[in-house]
Amino acid sequence: MSTIDFDNLSFAYHKTNTILYTEFKNGKWSEIESRTDDYISISAFAGSLHYGIQCFEGLKAFRGKDGKVRIFRPDENAKRLRKSAEYLGIEAPSEEMFIQMCKRIVKENIDFLPPYGNNASMYIRPILFGSNPQLGVKSSTECVFMMLCSPVGAYTGGALEAIDVVIARDYDRAAPNGSGAYKVGGNYACSLLSLNKAVKLGYKAVLYLDPTSRKFIDEYNSSNFFGIKGNSYITPLSDSILPSITNKSLEVAARELGMTVERRPVPVEELGSFEEVGECGTAVVITPVHKIVDKPSLESDQETVYTYGNGLCGEKSLALYKYITSIQYGEAPDKFGWTIEVEL
Ligand code: PLP
Ligand code: COI
Repeated sequence: MSTIDFDNLSFAYHKTNTILYTEFKNGKWSEIESRTDDYISISAFAGSLHYGIQCFEGLKAFRGKDGKVRIFRPDENAKRLRKSAEYLGIEAPSEEMFIQMCKRIVKENIDFLPPYGNNASMYIRPILFGSNPQLGVKSSTECVFMMLCSPVGAYTGGALEAIDVVIARDYDRAAPNGSGAYKVGGNYACSLLSLNKAVKLGYKAVLYLDPTSRKFIDEYNSSNFFGIKGNSYITPLSDSILPSITNKSLEVAARELGMTVERRPVPVEELGSFEEVGECGTAVVITPVHKIVDKPSLESDQETVYTYGNGLCGEKSLALYKYITSIQYGEAPDKFGWTIEVEL
């Protein structure tokens, strides 16, 4: 039985009943094990520890208004993990294996799935990494795939609480023609120095520009960018950002709500003409942005400040949030077949 206070969850790890573990060795995946111990034993020479041969995913399961348990678009995460693994040159689970494991981890940890009605959910963290001992820099021949989970609440503050972010012009998250479009741990490592400095200055996230020209908006350290202008949902087109599944869903939601969708390069100067701006992603859902502070460097006192709304979530962002979350929580019909139900 879980003793978690589901009403006061943040985005933090809580140990659950089990983790799922399988290894790819000699050309096949081992039988999937349910382990109660969340510590694992691997070679000190595993390529993931030395060369970052690692990728992961993030998705969520929700307890619905009707008592049913739904996972949001796991097929999309399975496909994206396979792309990341291909980038790293390592084996990846099939889409079918991935989805089966998503369902199984939720079922085995059902006591930890937050109840309906408090904006909380079960975060599912699939992780894949090279595990064979190696010294040379090359793709790992053996790997471990684990399915982990933790009950979570809002990523920053409370649900729909607006945040302030900073543009760090002296740091890039990804390189031109680099790994920005893949969900590899290295991208997050590359964001930490600027993120830590930004957090010390009181910001909740960093907004990165395109690393080639630094003229266009790319994305935040852990989410995609969107802006609202008139009746348009505008989001960057860039090959150095993660193709967000939430953003892809929001594009559909925006059209359904009668808005137009523009996926195109977004020049920094355009920040002054948006009525609403937000972050979107699995962990952040939709998080409204109150202020974007553009600095030539994080150390600089010089800044251009863009302010949106009065610190509350804008009307269109709220409609988009409701569109997506009402499908996730079984409050609205799942018209596009985005969710997969977990049989309990
Ligand atoms: N961008 C980055 C850098 C992320 O870490 C995430 C989180 O997964 C996203 C965007 C949003 O992607 P998704 O909506 O698929 O979770
Ligand atoms: C997610 O939104 O699922 C992420 O992976 C973002 C972050 C917690 C790394």
